Amino acid sequence: MKRRSFIALAAAPAVAPLLVSCSGDSPQVEVFTWWTGPGEGEGLAELERLFKEANPDVEFVNAAIAGGGGDQARAALATRLQASDPPDSFQGHAGEELADYVDNGVIEDLSALFESEGWNDVMHPGLLENITRDGKVYAVPVNIHRANLLWYNVSILEEARLSPPQSWSELIEQNATLSEMGVTTLSIGSAWTQLHLMETVLLGELGAETYSGLWTGQVDWRSAEVVAALETFTEVLKVSNVSEAAADWQPQLDKIVDGTAAYAVMGDWVYSYLTTNLGLVYDQEYSAAETPGSVGVFDYLSDAFTLPVGAKQRENAEAWLKVCASVEGQDAFNTKKGSLPARTDTDQSLYTDYLEWNLGQWLDPATVVVGSLAHGAVARPGWKTEIETALGVFVQEGDAAAFAAAVADAYQRTTG
Ligand code: GAL
Repeated sequence: MKRRSFIALAAAPAVAPLLVSCSGDSPQVEVFTWWTGPGEGEGLAELERLFKEANPDVEFVNAAIAGGGGDQARAALATRLQASDPPDSFQGHAGEELADYVDNGVIEDLSALFESEGWNDVMHPGLLENITRDGKVYAVPVNIHRANLLWYNVSILEEARLSPPQSWSELIEQNATLSEMGVTTLSIGSAWTQLHLMETVLLGELGAETYSGLWTGQVDWRSAEVVAALETFTEVLKVSNVSEAAADWQPQLDKIVDGTAAYAVMGDWVYSYLTTNLGLVYDQEYSAAETPGSVGVFDYLSDAFTLPVGAKQRENAEAWLKVCASVEGQDAFNTKKGSLPARTDTDQSLYTDYLEWNLGQWLDPATVVVGSLAHGAVARPGWKTEIETALGVFVQEGDAAAFAAAVADAYQRTTG
């Protein structure tokens, strides 16, 4: 039986406090995201600009809650939803995260809007499947992000005469050279970045098919192959700065920039931060490769905006969703955010350097697409929360078999 895991996530008090609506009667749209920090806020600002241009009389209320990966934002959102005080639109992830909102009845069916606006014909067909349940479409995707990326400091690798590793064991081997140079091999950050790292180790070690089977119950977490991949993850942690992990993904990447670390695994919002905020030149000062063992695979996630049940200014929320879905909105947003458009008919010439490379891979029919664990695509929130808790113990204690068993048990309890 499926658990109503989304509600379980909420840290809401039993009796919700009486909330005073901040919407009043004046026209506004309250948009809820976790895009506030450098590398996150700039893309949202583009959508806000376009919204204001199209809707000059409507105030844009930016209700973003800080914290990379969105854990804090989702907890705050759950509290608001439980108190029947939804924003007019909130950010969610295509796939299982969105499906949970649907099953809990907190977001509206947008099929009529998709039909009238012709969006069914222009959104990427695979992505469309991940925002559809029982034939109904539930969110407007703004982008395609990629999770399986290894960012690196170009001059450190040149000095060390190393190339980006093709396997996780090669990365571990490179540690001998890098540590002799006084450089940390792998920079990591807070708990969610460790989950993100683990998913890419599993992908590289198991391959796309087995990796995908982990999320559908088809692959046994307790199998020798999976436990061995998890053991590789513990070895990878040993060549990282886990004992003094950075607070979030930007400080994690700062270590690559200041040359104290060679590599970092992170999604391509990094491109936005390093290029737009820090002014670094892609492929000269920093670069990216597929995470070890994942050449030809695209570990995807997509940010998608919803229309919550009970949104106070429904009409303005729809106006917001139209900006999110527009060609202009997608191109302005994604070229700043480091992501690719969810639409298939935008101006591809705008996607340069890293984005051009990545767009080529996304559009290559030979590329195998898998979904991200850390960013909502493949695991229900209830299961993912339990994986995160077990991962905290695993990172401390290093017992791969115990972690695999905890994840398998949690799947049965929450999803299976
Ligand atoms: C992801 C989100 C991205 C980016 C990242 C870092 O979950 O989908 O758009 O914001 O978190 O915060």
